Amino acid sequence: MERASCLLLLLLPLLQVSATTLEPCELDDDDERCVCNFSDPQPDWSSALQCTVAVEVELRGGGRSLEQFLKYADVDADVQKYRDLIRSLRLKRLTVGAARVPAQLLMGVLRVLGYSRLKELTLEDLEVTGTMPLPPLEAIWPAVTTLSLRNVSWATGGAWLSKLQQWLKPGLQVLNIAQAHSLAFSCDQVRAFPALTTLDLSDNPGLGERGLTATLCPHKFPALQDLSIRNTGMETPNGVCTALATAGVQPVRLDLSYNSLRAAADPLTPGCVWPSALNSLNLSFAGLEQVPNGLPDKLSVLDLSCNRLNRAPRPDELPKVDNLKLDGNPFLNPEGPSPREDSMNSGGVPICARSPLAVGISGTLALLRGDRIFG
Ligand SMILES: *[C@@H]1O[C@H](CO)[C@@H](O)[C@H](O)[C@H]1NC(C)=O
Ligand SMILES: *[C@@H]1O[C@H](CO)[C@@H](O)[C@H](O)[C@H]1NC(C)=O
Ligand SMILES: *[C@@H]1O[C@H](CO)[C@@H](O)[C@H](O)[C@H]1NC(C)=O
Repeated sequence: MERASCLLLLLLPLLQVSATTLEPCELDDDDERCVCNFSDPQPDWSSALQCTVAVEVELRGGGRSLEQFLKYADVDADVQKYRDLIRSLRLKRLTVGAARVPAQLLMGVLRVLGYSRLKELTLEDLEVTGTMPLPPLEAIWPAVTTLSLRNVSWATGGAWLSKLQQWLKPGLQVLNIAQAHSLAFSCDQVRAFPALTTLDLSDNPGLGERGLTATLCPHKFPALQDLSIRNTGMETPNGVCTALATAGVQPVRLDLSYNSLRAAADPLTPGCVWPSALNSLNLSFAGLEQVPNGLPDKLSVLDLSCNRLNRAPRPDELPKVDNLKLDGNPFLNPEGPSPREDSMNSGGVPICARSPLAVGISGTLALLRGDRIFG
């Protein structure tokens, strides 16, 4: 009996430790990163106060509705009086995820952060409800340079991008949109992104070439250098080329990996002139059995790794290219296992095994595949 109570006493500190780990927010030892997961039915929201010192803050709502906070979000409020306080925040990166959030609340938060040093904003697994009010004219908006959205749905449908644009200063450099519910933008309302150099539309398997044409609003991306359209249902390089030409975008690097590409262009489709600046093309993990027709004439980098090429490409099939990647194709290793499984490089490391990330992505995307994301 006594032994038992003794044991309990010894366990007490441990119990206390596990009680404190139930706190929804955790700040790391360097006061750099603060992560909150409000999945508890009755979360202690005040725990988030410790995050005010962090540079990187991640807030996850456990899938709940944040409507109750709407009363604190006054879009027309005079935030000027908090200016110095907000300026003193170290916050640079903010992630908001797993919640149903009224557009007005999201906007109120961005309004308050107008004086902050916020540079990177990530929204994940969010359902944004309600319409967005017109922004007050004199409002100061955050100078966000990187905006990442994954699985965010908007009550405003395809108008969301042009609305969201009104809440941010025009210096956006990187825009990532994955698992989008609507990429059919109202192009006449979208303003140009004068500083945007990187557009990543990867992991939108329902996009397709027709959708890409609709998404790349003509002349809105004048500074674009890097375009990633991994796993976006593209069918032929030529179809992508046509979409780029229609939109007048001139990327330097194009990532087409993880699309099931057909090598031969449809004989009825006319050839297409690739952007003259294009110097890197990624066609890896594209299931190709031969080099596709209609590639650009000259490239610095062409990545054809992890396809199903059964023989070495003939020089006349390839563009002029300085750096050609062909590893992970069956012709290099006729005795070996198929590239779908475990192509090994000389070190015995599987080079074409899908990364856990890619597997996770295609897993969730299988769920989204039926979604219509444009039209
Ligand atoms: C948040 O907590 C819930 C419940 O404990 C857990 O299932 C979920 O994975 C957590 N989310 C993150 C991003 O850690
Ligand atoms: C997308 O976000 C919603 C919440 O808005 C969530 O319920 C759903 O599970 C998420 N889907 C995926 C594939 O993560
Ligand atoms: C091409 O894409 C694959 C898969 O997305 C990636 O692993 C590889 O590094 C890329 N190649 C280049 C040259 O960037």
